[in-house]
Amino acid sequence: MALIRAGQPADTCRVREVNLLAFGQPDEGDLVERLRERCRELLELVAVRDGKVVGHILFSPATVSCQERTVKGAALGPMAVLQAYQGQGIGTALVRRGVAMLREQGCPFVVVLGYPEFYGRLGFGPASRFGVDCDWDVPDAAFMMLILADEAMRGMSGRAQYRPEFSQV
Ligand SMILES: CC(C)(COP(=O)(O)OP(=O)(O)OC[C@H]1O[C@@H](n2cnc3c(N)ncnc32)[C@H](O)[C@@H]1OP(=O)(O)O)[C@@H](O)C(=O)NCCC(=O)NCCS
Repeated sequence: MALIRAGQPADTCRVREVNLLAFGQPDEGDLVERLRERCRELLELVAVRDGKVVGHILFSPATVSCQERTVKGAALGPMAVLQAYQGQGIGTALVRRGVAMLREQGCPFVVVLGYPEFYGRLGFGPASRFGVDCDWDVPDAAFMMLILADEAMRGMSGRAQYRPEFSQV
């Protein structure tokens, strides 16, 4: 198994490389760097195996707003694991650790745009089930939500807003 730890400034180049190789394009690595420059409230974790960073996950602030109020939670992504290390539970471990840390901090929800099979196993369900949608035209099953604090989220529905940097991808 991999060691999961907080991302550090010394990981910057390697995290860019992991995202580039896993996604086959620079966009996600660029997004990570833009967010780091402009947002102080990120949760970043890396997976280390054989002394190297082989996986990375980022959580950034997100909100869900309805007429009465706005609730602040987290958006998961991007997340990447190097191909040679995929299918070994590293992505799962990154999500589980990040979600556990957010839960401890009192974060009420996590949203993610991704593979339903993967996130469904980790407790995420279609956000539409909670009356929550997003700015992007994506299949219903791909935009998912995990509720961490039922009380804070009671009666909440509306649009999830990511950081503006996501709209530049
Ligand atoms: C998605 C990703 C982070 C998963 O990391 P991982 O370490 O392989 O994940 P785990 O080993 O914990 O779990 C593997 C599961 O991931 C899911 N998965 C991985 N890639 C998938 C894909 N393209 N489509 C659907 N499910 C996928 C499968 O459910 C797989 O289950 P299986 O092993 O039974 O086939 C990794 O495959 C990756 O970096 N992919 C390229 C980048 C990417 O697409 N990131 C976006 C994530 S939303």
